[in-house]
Amino acid sequence: MVKAIRVHEVGGPEAMQWEEVEVGEPKDGEIRVKNTAVGVNFIDVYFRKGVYSAPLPFTPGMEAVGVVSAVGPGLTGMKVGDVVAYGGMPMGSYSEEQIIPASVAIPVPPSINHNTVAAILLKGMTVHVLIRRVFKVEPGHTILLHAAAGGVGSLLCQWANALGATVIGTVSNEEKAVHAAQHGCHHVIISTKEDVVARVKEITDGKGVDVVYDSVGKDTYKVSLESLAVHGYLVSFGESSGSPDPILISDLSPKSLFLTTASMLTYTGTRDELLQSAGEVFANLASGVLRIRVNHTYPLSEAARAHADLEARKTSGSILLIPDN
Ligand SMILES: NC(=O)c1ccc[n+]([C@@H]2O[C@H](COP(=O)([O-])OP(=O)(O)OC[C@H]3O[C@@H](n4cnc5c(N)ncnc54)[C@H](OP(=O)(O)O)[C@@H]3O)[C@@H](O)[C@H]2O)c1
Repeated sequence: MVKAIRVHEVGGPEAMQWEEVEVGEPKDGEIRVKNTAVGVNFIDVYFRKGVYSAPLPFTPGMEAVGVVSAVGPGLTGMKVGDVVAYGGMPMGSYSEEQIIPASVAIPVPPSINHNTVAAILLKGMTVHVLIRRVFKVEPGHTILLHAAAGGVGSLLCQWANALGATVIGTVSNEEKAVHAAQHGCHHVIISTKEDVVARVKEITDGKGVDVVYDSVGKDTYKVSLESLAVHGYLVSFGESSGSPDPILISDLSPKSLFLTTASMLTYTGTRDELLQSAGEVFANLASGVLRIRVNHTYPLSEAARAHADLEARKTSGSILLIPDN
């Protein structure tokens, strides 16, 4: 038996209970991993609240790093003692140990410490997908992103800056503005105090931005559309504030805009895509393009506190849960 966070009924952070669970033995194609660090992602909140549904009861969490403690019958290419990470499906990383398909396990270079991996993998692969595949950021582009001091936001600012883009980011307070600026955001707009569209127009000489990466949704999508230049791209990849109202095709026509949604999972569906994304993240970490400073670490048993802080917009950068044993 090991201990894990379990959700029996969807709801607030208190819906997460710390319980004993049976992990069992890995079957064909599976490995068992003893987690050493677990990444917290906003998608964990959506599942806990029931915005996205999962069969109850479930263990939340889609990102962890750990040491292989057992391998399924006949499995080759991985052995007990290997350090692996994963970011994506299946859910269940808020656990001291878990079973995952070997096909989603990513070998971790020995030079990278476990906390760094859990802080960067899923969010970094998301950024890779957003700025290298969904809309390819090039030198000279001007981009806008919301929640620029968040987990994904901090990495996107750094990576887009290194690609030669001008990065404009929104945050909710001064402390987060400092964090975003330190992570490569050239122009930080405090959305609770400033008129975002007016500031974007001022920064871009009235032109607007080439792309908006919008993970906030309901509260920001109108601002995002208004901030775009002619032929600009709105990339919707999250809804931290709730689902945006429906967008009409006629809303796009005055500037002939492009609108797309982007799920990292659909862009890393094959083993090749997954390893390519993870490889890009590790390479950018090694070269210093991506730097990670983890400001928020909680014992795994206190995942509820981590969720409460994330939802209350109290966090910046990545959040980690560390297994108690
Ligand atoms: N599509 C994908 O594949 C994919 C993958 C990973 C993450 N995501 C999305 O990317 C976003 C960021 O994820 P993350 O884990 O890095 O979280 P995060 O950005 O660290 O946290 C969310 C941030 O959103 C902002 N926010 C604005 N309105 C909010 C509200 N009503 N409630 C809570 N937060 C609000 C807050 O920043 P301010 O206080 O500065 O406004 C908050 O800190 C999420 O929407 C997530 O679902 C999508």
